[in-house]
Amino acid sequence: MNQKPVGIFDSGVGGLTVLSEILKALPNEEFIFFGDAARVPYGSKSVETVTKFSRQIVNFLVSKDVKAIVIACSTVSSNCFKTLSAEFPLPFIEVISPGVEDAALVTRNKTIGVIGTEATIGSGLYDALLKEKIPGAKVYSKACPLFVPLAEEGWTKNTVARITAEIYLQELLDKEIDSLILGCTHYPLLINCIKDVVGPVRIINAAESTARRLKSFLSSNHLENPSRSPTSPKFFVSDNTKKFDRISSLVLRQNFSASIIDIEKY
Ligand code: DGL
Repeated sequence: MNQKPVGIFDSGVGGLTVLSEILKALPNEEFIFFGDAARVPYGSKSVETVTKFSRQIVNFLVSKDVKAIVIACSTVSSNCFKTLSAEFPLPFIEVISPGVEDAALVTRNKTIGVIGTEATIGSGLYDALLKEKIPGAKVYSKACPLFVPLAEEGWTKNTVARITAEIYLQELLDKEIDSLILGCTHYPLLINCIKDVVGPVRIINAAESTARRLKSFLSSNHLENPSRSPTSPKFFVSDNTKKFDRISSLVLRQNFSASIIDIEKY
């Protein structure tokens, strides 16, 4: 048993889609969430820069005495998980392998689409893990960088979002994919729009299985919070609390007030 909080971070509001599932699975845990609003997007930056930003965030979360960290960002999970795990003596939960496991359960024709940021698709990690997990799998990947600013702007259902989704996804539909991994934690914010475009293709949002993974990790390592009266998650951002608060209240259906911190100090 361990009463310390769990840290969770993303470049921006995308990680809220993961937190939302985690809160359902682990109502007794306390969470410290960091969103790097000042430096989003990560997906079009170099691995070196994203690693530097992630280190600063982990240092910040360590200063809050967290017992584990959920990397609620596919870009960081796919490019920095190994580096962070080697540099910091605390457990990290990533969001890539839960999506791969879900795809293996869902696909019938072993033809899988993956969408993510340029850095996530460029890492080749989904492709490698899917082919290892599903022998004979055909994997078609597509970077969809414009989905992140649309999600950050709250433009998740309008015509611009719809047309962007059509343009990005048509080439995957042409390959007859039967399942599509949302390989960026911002993308579930556009799920209705993506569903409209892909029709019967099964959409995989790894947030739920990431939450299950965190739950089983905490329980098998006896790290669960014994408290029956947990406090609300605490939110920190590097810029623009107003915008973050607006989107967090939409995603989590509750009002929260984020605090601003100078992440460059960490
Ligand atoms: N939500 C993040 C991800 O899952 C980052 C998107 C971005 O900042 O470009 O990749």
